Amino acid sequence: MPLVNVEDYRAAARRRLPRFVFDYLDGGAEDEIALRRNRAAFEDPILTPRVLNPVAQRDQSVGWLGKRLPTPIVIAPTGLNGLFWHEGDLKLARAARRLGIPFTLSTASNASIEQVAATGAEFWFQLYVMHRALADELVDRAFAAGASQLVLTVDVPVGGKRERDLRNRFVMPFRLRPDTLLDIACHPRWLWSVGRHGAPAMGNLGGAASKDPNVQAALLSRNMDASFSWDDLARLRDRWPRPLLVKGILHPADIRRAAEIGVDGIVLSNHGGRQLDAAPAPLSQLEEAVSPGLPILLDSGIRRGTDIVKARLAGADAVMIGRAALYGLAVGGEDGVVEVVKLLQSEIDRTQALMGLPNLNVRSAVCVGEHKSLTLSAGISSQYQWVWP
Ligand SMILES: Cc1cc2nc3c(=O)[nH]c(=O)nc-3n(C[C@H](O)[C@H](O)[C@H](O)COP(=O)(O)O)c2cc1C
Repeated sequence: MPLVNVEDYRAAARRRLPRFVFDYLDGGAEDEIALRRNRAAFEDPILTPRVLNPVAQRDQSVGWLGKRLPTPIVIAPTGLNGLFWHEGDLKLARAARRLGIPFTLSTASNASIEQVAATGAEFWFQLYVMHRALADELVDRAFAAGASQLVLTVDVPVGGKRERDLRNRFVMPFRLRPDTLLDIACHPRWLWSVGRHGAPAMGNLGGAASKDPNVQAALLSRNMDASFSWDDLARLRDRWPRPLLVKGILHPADIRRAAEIGVDGIVLSNHGGRQLDAAPAPLSQLEEAVSPGLPILLDSGIRRGTDIVKARLAGADAVMIGRAALYGLAVGGEDGVVEVVKLLQSEIDRTQALMGLPNLNVRSAVCVGEHKSLTLSAGISSQYQWVWP
């Protein structure tokens, strides 16, 4: 059967991956309320179409920090991509290169920063701070390798309680148990294409700093440095001269503070519902998030092109996709990622045509027009209005 939407790719990924791998990819924290809320938030907004506005030519490119993205999509940072496909990070990077969109490499990646740089893809580097010396080394390596943006993730002072992983005993250090072996044996395609290469290594954590005994202790504890503060963010701002984004921010006061420190943008995100289960859906925070005027990427729950149009109309510049890209990776490697992003692009294009929007240069923040306005009845807290481009 042809795979016609992201949910189809999810179902195919579920068939292909051992259960403990699929659950790591797919799951959220605790009762998975945030995970469901992320999806529910996208069901709420209603788009009232306008007709007879010529839409024969349609353009979905958008601006991001002085550059043009061909579509408002960036690949989100995700750890352990080597579990979904052999050399998963490199496949994602190459797919992003083919699509002309940025790929964000996680600190918890299996490929190293330098290996990803060698693909020629535009890549951003996502930083987790486990130990300051290690973080400094990673930032310097990312800079030297040509990462064009640094994304500091701030919503993981501790890991979320992911109960699917606990039930599957998918906790580090990972040990193969009889039930895991059975799980793997039932997925021979994955065993042949991924499992036979052995457990993927952590590609970034073998540099000089990791020889330091304090860094080793921090890595062994597998904890983040929960003392990292706003002052540390200000220091990071000074250290990193290229665009700096803060990811995992949701409260309007925090967004203002990040703006004061001089970050270049934020990723409005609840980590795909994998951290605080009571967190709001990023879409519901968007109206307040736009006021400090920072460029905004939104993630968590994007599964449809329409979701991306809704996020864009409600004030986000573009979105990050996490699981959607990973379902594609798990099903078809590099080609699977390209297919999923193209599918989202075609859904955006169709939504634009049906909405009477030849381009996406429409922002709720910039315009309210009595006669030429459309309403996106957001159902979140208010009505957004915008004028024709
Ligand atoms: C399997 C998996 C691993 C992730 N690893 C990271 C990570 O290493 N760093 C990070 O900042 N976010 C990580 N995230 C969160 C994503 O960057 C992103 O915020 C989230 O996936 C967006 O939600 P979505 O999956 O519904 O698109 C991870 C998400 C998933 C699903």
